[in-house]
Amino acid sequence: MEGQTLSLAAHLRDEQKKNPKITNGLISLLGEMASASKAISRDVNRAGLVGILGLANKVNVQGEEVKKLDEYSNEIVRAQMSKSGQVCIMASEEVDNSMPVDEGCEGPYTIAFDPLDGSSNIDVNVSIGTIFSIHHKISPGTKGTDDDLLQPGNKQVCAGYVLYGSSTMLVYTAGSGVHGFTLDQGVGEFYLSHPNMQIKPKGDIYSINEGNYLYWDKNTQKYIDYLKAEDKATKRPYKARYVGSLVADFHRTLIYGGLFLYPMDYKDPQKPKGKLRLLYEAAPMAYVVQQAGGYASTGFEAILDIKPTGLHQRVPLIIGSVEDVKQAEKFIQRKA
Ligand code: AHG
Ligand code: MN
Ligand code: MN
Repeated sequence: MEGQTLSLAAHLRDEQKKNPKITNGLISLLGEMASASKAISRDVNRAGLVGILGLANKVNVQGEEVKKLDEYSNEIVRAQMSKSGQVCIMASEEVDNSMPVDEGCEGPYTIAFDPLDGSSNIDVNVSIGTIFSIHHKISPGTKGTDDDLLQPGNKQVCAGYVLYGSSTMLVYTAGSGVHGFTLDQGVGEFYLSHPNMQIKPKGDIYSINEGNYLYWDKNTQKYIDYLKAEDKATKRPYKARYVGSLVADFHRTLIYGGLFLYPMDYKDPQKPKGKLRLLYEAAPMAYVVQQAGGYASTGFEAILDIKPTGLHQRVPLIIGSVEDVKQAEKFIQRKA
């Protein structure tokens, strides 16, 4: 099989023949995102190494003050997108306001990204990732505006993530299925390893931070209690798996089936709508799972239908196998 698989660019040129959303510009933009993720993959590993060297982690190899890995990864993605010539405005989890691109480099797309997802896990060498969401510019003129970023998820041109795990994988969709690529570190190239990824209609794994149980509303508590009760016919009790990095928990859900939940909780009055952000966490994952035959909801409405009102708007997220997510909605919408 070695050497028989398609590179990311070759795959995209193939896809372009049947999917008009895959323009030469989008191919170029995805290539830039792939190259940024190769640099992050290298630095994620090195950060671990520097960490082992103790105080050295106060100063990086160039003698500069090491920024937090989130900020460092953010700078890699921001700089690469800014020069791509394909983007007119950007949003990042790490930056309060939207960001312009380099003068004269404006392009037809917007990008919102979480440069390093699950970063609390880096110190314990647990999988983390990068998430991205691409829209087409809708405002007139060359410079993008926040309106170009604040589009509903069902208008996304392309979305995906990179998972820095036992291998580095890039998974994307541009509306003609979900395709996964594995980075061959020796060659420095992403090769197609998971063509046409599809999620099971129903699984037997649930993924949620049970530590928040006391803070969920009653209906959410009842749903999780239901999953833990015994009933062989419906494969219950479900298995519990929780990594604490959305990218890792989502990727496992995509491959094994079942569902991931980060519901609203009453623990933090600042976050009445749950912890995860719509623009660069929930919406891109919702597009990927929809294209894989799954579904993503707040418990009350489809994630992809939500018109964002702010760059860092938080939403409850229930995502995975369609039968599981629909069943969770039924419990959550029960009249008390
Ligand atoms: P980020 O590191 O980008 O802030 O994202 C962390 C998120 C997400 O990756 C994960 O699903 C969630 O935080 C875990 O939150 P808890 O630690 O509260 O379970
Ligand atoms: Mn995140
Ligand atoms: Mn992050």
